[in-house]
Amino acid sequence: MCFGVAATNVTAAIALWQKIAWSIWLVFGGVILLQFVPYTLLRSHFFNSVRDDSYCCIGDDMNSDSATEKWIQSADAWIADQGTEGDWSRHAVLDPALKKILTDIQGKTVLDLGCGEGRYSRILQRNGALVTGIDPVPQFIEHARSLDSMSTYVEGTAEDLPFDDGSFDIVLSYLTFIDIADLQAASQEIARVLRPGGELVVVSISNMASTTEGWIKDEAGNKAYRKVDRYMEHFAMDLEWRGIRIQNYHRPLSYVLGLFLNHGFVLTRFIEPLPDLSDPYYNEEWRVPNFQIYSFERTTE
Ligand SMILES: C[S@@+](CC[C@H](N)C(=O)[O-])C[C@H]1O[C@@H](n2cnc3c(N)ncnc32)[C@H](O)[C@@H]1O
Repeated sequence: MCFGVAATNVTAAIALWQKIAWSIWLVFGGVILLQFVPYTLLRSHFFNSVRDDSYCCIGDDMNSDSATEKWIQSADAWIADQGTEGDWSRHAVLDPALKKILTDIQGKTVLDLGCGEGRYSRILQRNGALVTGIDPVPQFIEHARSLDSMSTYVEGTAEDLPFDDGSFDIVLSYLTFIDIADLQAASQEIARVLRPGGELVVVSISNMASTTEGWIKDEAGNKAYRKVDRYMEHFAMDLEWRGIRIQNYHRPLSYVLGLFLNHGFVLTRFIEPLPDLSDPYYNEEWRVPNFQIYSFERTTE
């Protein structure tokens, strides 16, 4: 009899415990589900609209072949547009700033990455550097060679540099990061060909400016403001001016700097150069600067 009562109590206790256990599971399972579902929804929304830092930049609209093809089609117009002095941004803003930065280049090996028709390579060469220029556009390489027999000009891309490890003291990217389809691959190649202690100098379109084609004008036609939008995204944009039709790649500044800061480079300079005060465009550049110049030292890491 006692045994029977005890057995009934044990069975009831087990049944009660099973109910409690199920309740605990239901409560905790619900909590876990409640956390998981919104996280998953938010995450898919986030990655659809904003790409994370490790995302490689070639998407459907970031095709490198079509970008190079556009440069090839635009090569003659570009050469004519640059003339001997370069366009306004170069002769009024960037060349003078760069002259103050690249002061010690005598006898140094310099890679002009995306050298175009070679105008700045020739300036470097005249100032004593041992220059190699690389560009994917055959007309540019031909033009550069025809005007400078002292330097080496090679057809190729930043993503696949045909040079030995540690070949260069300085790598210069003069307004080319925005033209390079796969900047992650290019950053690895730059790190490889730059000697430890070497310098990477980047002349760039401001990452704010590269989200937009230009000024928004008011009803009277005055330049009212520049619109910045989709800043954290990576996207390609078609641009056209004076017979030149090319494709640029916008990326956020944190992404571009991170490619180098996270891989053995130290940022040593960051400036937003402006034209001379007397320049007619000074006020516009003061309101929204179009350019940045920054340098990194490649450490021994
Ligand atoms: C805006 S132009 C600058 C040319 C020159 N550095 C200058 O400042 O006059 C951009 C150059 O990048 C080159 N380019 C485009 N894609 C490239 C790539 N993947 N690797 C290296 N250069 C590239 C273009 O052919 C073009 O000559």
